[in-house]
Amino acid sequence: MATVPPAASRIAVVTGASSGIGAATARQLAEAGYRVVLTARRKDRIEALAEEINAAGHSATAYQLDVTDRAAVDEFATAFTTVGVLVNNAGGALGADPVATGDPADWRTMYETNVIGTLNLTQALLPKLIASGDGTVVVVSSTAGHATYEGGAGYVAAKHGTHVLAETLRLEIVGQPVRVIEIAPGMVRTEEFALTRFRGDAEKAAKVYEGVAAPLTAEDVADTITWAVTRPSHVNVDLLVVRPRAQASNTKVHREK
Ligand SMILES: NC(=O)c1ccc[n+]([C@@H]2O[C@H](COP(=O)([O-])OP(=O)(O)OC[C@H]3O[C@@H](n4cnc5c(N)ncnc54)[C@H](OP(=O)(O)O)[C@@H]3O)[C@@H](O)[C@H]2O)c1
Repeated sequence: MATVPPAASRIAVVTGASSGIGAATARQLAEAGYRVVLTARRKDRIEALAEEINAAGHSATAYQLDVTDRAAVDEFATAFTTVGVLVNNAGGALGADPVATGDPADWRTMYETNVIGTLNLTQALLPKLIASGDGTVVVVSSTAGHATYEGGAGYVAAKHGTHVLAETLRLEIVGQPVRVIEIAPGMVRTEEFALTRFRGDAEKAAKVYEGVAAPLTAEDVADTITWAVTRPSHVNVDLLVVRPRAQASNTKVHREK
């Protein structure tokens, strides 16, 4: 059996590290001793974050990557002989239209990013995760991957796909030294998630969190991811659903007046 290197020498690749949950996860995994590799399309942001992490005495590098570009993902993977952790976090929602009027182009983009993006990185890095002798694939799905809500079908369908990918992969690679962990957050107030969903409409974006005393933060979810990743190797947190206390389901949210 391959010797497992200590966490300090192990690489953690984080997709969508230019903002929100991905950026917070990169910071926390670096603090936990991983050499983090930050990927996203916006190079300036991941470079600035890598600089910040390195200045704090940890180890980070930035690599510009669109997770939907398979050729670029394959090229990225050649940089590694082993990878300890892959956090498939890149993704998001586009629009909140009912099924009757939703834009098929939005549905395709959400499927491409949330499902095919996760597939691309996972396929490209799986041999390196296995080669590490103790690999972990994290899939950031959503509570939208487990139940639907009105106006959410495109995103819900995509995140169900993300969930199925994680669940199936776990079945298929059992016996290999790689865990598959799915983290399914509920409402998280990040800088960009709702803004992206509503194409920059700040008023609509703010409404998502209106009256909610304490939505989850990116740091809360990063903490959950880091906790799951840093359990002993034989402990596989299959699925962890995390919501703010004020949210009992995707549609049952306590809002203060
Ligand atoms: N916020 C929530 O309420 C919530 C709840 C449950 C689950 N989630 C999920 O958690 C993940 C992170 O969400 P967040 O709230 O942190 O959102 P966010 O701040 O909008 O971050 C999304 C990240 O994904 C990256 N990304 C998007 N498309 C990409 C592509 N094609 N290639 C590479 N990177 C891409 C973005 O970077 P670039 O634009 O620089 O590429 C960005 O870093 C997403 O998968 C989201 O669906 C969020």
